[in-house]
Amino acid sequence: MHTELKVNGTTHRLDHDPRLTLLDALRDHLELTGSKKGCDHGQCGACTVLVNGRRVNACLSLVAMHDGDQVTTIEGLGNPENLSDLQAAFVKKDGYQCGYCTPGQIMSATGMMEEAKAGAPSHVSPDLAGEVSLDDAEIAERMSGNLCRCSAYPFIREAIAMAAEVKK
Ligand code: FES
Ligand code: FES
Repeated sequence: MHTELKVNGTTHRLDHDPRLTLLDALRDHLELTGSKKGCDHGQCGACTVLVNGRRVNACLSLVAMHDGDQVTTIEGLGNPENLSDLQAAFVKKDGYQCGYCTPGQIMSATGMMEEAKAGAPSHVSPDLAGEVSLDDAEIAERMSGNLCRCSAYPFIREAIAMAAEVKK
């Protein structure tokens, strides 16, 4: 079957098996290996990408579900010469050790900051309809789908808080 995807601004027409996941399409067909395969079961968040601006576990999504969708991967966020605010904050705050979870963390945080800006409450938000302030508890809750086996969590949260301040 055929599916058309716009990935990081470039349109790709894939001829693929109907069972192909979005993660395998990105990594194996388009050679965008920044998105990582950690668990392949929707449990670790290493494969997080943005689909039409919303964060998605690419390992749990079939590429056939995304005809015409816009996908952003870590490669589309910035590059070494021009880092996104979050990428720069992860470098500055040392928000990684082995780095395996880092692309997923940064993609998830990118989507999460937009959700917070739009006023979407989380489980720990004191007010369901109020403005969201990204304090440490909010960041921890909203990033709880992204696991880090190196336990770099304190620095990851600091990096996200730093980028959230820049974006205010
Ligand atoms: S690889 Fe997708 S959630 Fe772990
Ligand atoms: S930095 Fe190693 S898994 Fe997170």
